[in-house]
Amino acid sequence: MSTDRPDAPLGASEIVCPLDSLGTEDARGFQLGGGEWPLQGIVVRHAGVVHAYVNRCPHAGHPLHLAQDRFLSKDRQFLVCASHGALFELATGRCIAGPCAGASLTPLKVCVERHLVMLDPTVNIADYQQ
Ligand code: FES
Repeated sequence: MSTDRPDAPLGASEIVCPLDSLGTEDARGFQLGGGEWPLQGIVVRHAGVVHAYVNRCPHAGHPLHLAQDRFLSKDRQFLVCASHGALFELATGRCIAGPCAGASLTPLKVCVERHLVMLDPTVNIADYQQ
């Protein structure tokens, strides 16, 4: 979930994407950190709130997408894993159908500063690199 801090100075946290690059019900992938195993994430804008998750399905550990930025179900109500069809709630990352029902995507704390979606400064990217 994001917090909006329009007047706060930009911190040292990492930029995920411009807020305007996300539609009103939208999701896209991002990558942060260096090395061979950078953090692979998904950022979601749903009902005016920005959420982010590690792009790793709790079923078999695959990235959710096969095609670039194709994360949403056709009705745009769920994140869908392209491997075996698991459906995840946009606002919580909880799997509501599929082989890992009841499991959840790993959330990443983000904030919005000056129209940029930023990884929250408390998040240590190295803790999430795969
Ligand atoms: S790896 Fe996602 S449903 Fe199997």
